[in-house]
Amino acid sequence: MDWLETRNGRLHAEGVALTEIAERFGTPVYVYSRAAIEQAFGEFSRAAAGREVLVCYAMKANSNLAIIDLLARAGAGFDIVSGGELRRALAAGADASRVVFSGVGKSANEIRFALEAGVRCFNVESTSELRRLSAIATACGRRAPVSLRVNPDVDAGTHPYISTGLRENKFGIAHDAAIAVYREAATLPGIEVTGIDCHIGSQITELAPFVAALDRIIDLAGQLAAQGIALRHLDLGGGLGIDYDGERPPSRQALLDAVFARIDASPAVRGLEVMFEFGRSIVGNAGLLLTRVEYLKSNDARNFAVVDAAMNDLMRPALYEAFHRIVPVVDRPGTALRWDVVGPVCESGDWLGRDRALALEEGDLLAVLSAGAYGMAMSSNYNTRPRAAEVMVDRGQAHLIRERETVESLYALERRLPD
Ligand code: LLP
Repeated sequence: MDWLETRNGRLHAEGVALTEIAERFGTPVYVYSRAAIEQAFGEFSRAAAGREVLVCYAMKANSNLAIIDLLARAGAGFDIVSGGELRRALAAGADASRVVFSGVGKSANEIRFALEAGVRCFNVESTSELRRLSAIATACGRRAPVSLRVNPDVDAGTHPYISTGLRENKFGIAHDAAIAVYREAATLPGIEVTGIDCHIGSQITELAPFVAALDRIIDLAGQLAAQGIALRHLDLGGGLGIDYDGERPPSRQALLDAVFARIDASPAVRGLEVMFEFGRSIVGNAGLLLTRVEYLKSNDARNFAVVDAAMNDLMRPALYEAFHRIVPVVDRPGTALRWDVVGPVCESGDWLGRDRALALEEGDLLAVLSAGAYGMAMSSNYNTRPRAAEVMVDRGQAHLIRERETVESLYALERRLPD
């Protein structure tokens, strides 16, 4: 994370002291680096240079308008999973023709909205969805561009909750059923078959699962071509992992090189446009959660550092037992003890890190690293906690990109019963 450096014993983000950000915007606060986001996306772009490739950003990882805007300006497309995400993308200035629509449960309203907006492709996950889409498109006098999301039954080797490419997962159309569904798609009046799609999971740290899934897709594309169903693109999903705790995922370049080598060697797909849907690997390491220690307490068994961020702000540890590095913002001399870093929420699952060696005093600031993806995006208001502010640093300046929520706004939509 080269956007973070220690100067005079204080952690700085793109040259701005995190102590200053905490003072100005309060804590907890998410802090992102513009340069780090652009650098990550730029690596994908450079690895794809000279080819027909659309790198879509999976908005679910972090859908703040400032981030969408930066990525749109850098040439990204967007992978959306709801009508809400489409509205956000459009509000941030993205072009619908660069948006692909994924997800197992698209409602009729969402489909209509996306058709009218002119999205580039619907990644269809079932026969029922395909028929619904055809009927709606026909009624609107359109044909919907479609790729079928194929479930390749490949083990991504990641946490079961974020693995999506196995038979037992709810996602996609089974590999062996795909040809029949494509044949039906080719006969439906409101459907224009344009591609094939797969996504096998998230936080994948090996090349092999990506290549195995690609091979299954290439195999299907060959069978489809033989039956006269021509594809224009392959969508290979997202899923590239990041370093949270010393993991060493393949580089962005290495992944794309491996993919293109396979594609170039396969006549069935050579020359097709290639799309990706990366989320975590674009924003994950470009953000941190800044929090302040409220209380230190110890018993016979443990030392607890109670901080002002909680599971409602960063749910990944509670949900997946995910690891995030936690580092002090100001170097403090003294002996490190082992601390469980926990939040104020009334659940034992409310922890951000366990058994961390830190020299701490009450009032200290801590940075929870690698929190740019699936952090703010998954936050909630549990315990009537307003969601954190979000700040982006850019060339020495810190910009507020989302205000801290007010408590009043949390119940503004609620109504008491009449007497
Ligand atoms: N495309 C599809 C269809 C997806 O379902 C996902 C993620 C992505 C792309 C982006 O995957 P990425 O490049 O970010 O790995 N909340 C979990 C992660 C859930 C991922 C869900 N799907 C976490 O915090 O680890």
